[in-house]
Amino acid sequence: MIESVIAIAAAYLLGSVSFSVLFAKLLKGIDIRNHGSGNAGATNTLRVLGKGPAILVLVLDICKGILAVWLGRWIAPDYDWTPALAGLAAVVGHNWPLYFHFKGGKGIATTIGMLATLCFLPALFAGIIAIATIVLTRYVSLGSLLFVTLTPVFLVVYDAAGWHDYGMPVLIVSLVIWALAVWRHRGNLVKLKNGTENKLGSKSGGKE
Ligand code: G3P
Repeated sequence: MIESVIAIAAAYLLGSVSFSVLFAKLLKGIDIRNHGSGNAGATNTLRVLGKGPAILVLVLDICKGILAVWLGRWIAPDYDWTPALAGLAAVVGHNWPLYFHFKGGKGIATTIGMLATLCFLPALFAGIIAIATIVLTRYVSLGSLLFVTLTPVFLVVYDAAGWHDYGMPVLIVSLVIWALAVWRHRGNLVKLKNGTENKLGSKSGGKE
């Protein structure tokens, strides 16, 4: 039990490392949360700092999710729930970071890392549809929401079809992740509905 608590706490501390905030401070001496959409994530890094830093932030934020699940597997190998809960803790850390006044991002890149580690194929199929949606519409938020919605759907399909049972912890945590992502994207949802959401590549961001 104590191993699980340690793994989940470590994952939260790892998730709390906000790379977009750090890079914006280092490269431009600004707080990214006061620029663009105000979100501490890769999409807003693209708006505020450009392509190179955005790709780096995306990769590092994905790595936080991967590493968090592995921490759960290494530290508490006997507990089924720990890898999924550690992944969730990293997303919570990313969204509400301990080191940055609990003001972070929307957790999608870290979610990609943790879900791809927990349930690779359902996450891959959801990811392909999400990326196609972003390419077609240029709405990153829409693709992000599709990704978190479709992964649990594919988990259920996989189980129902008898292809693979990823287990209850992964399904429940993916549903919690979905709820967190919808909550964090509530401003984007309003803008999508009004037709005022920013498209990928637009510089403004429209701070929420
Ligand atoms: O992952 C974040 C993305 O879905 C939206 O970011 O900055 O456009 O609100 P942003």
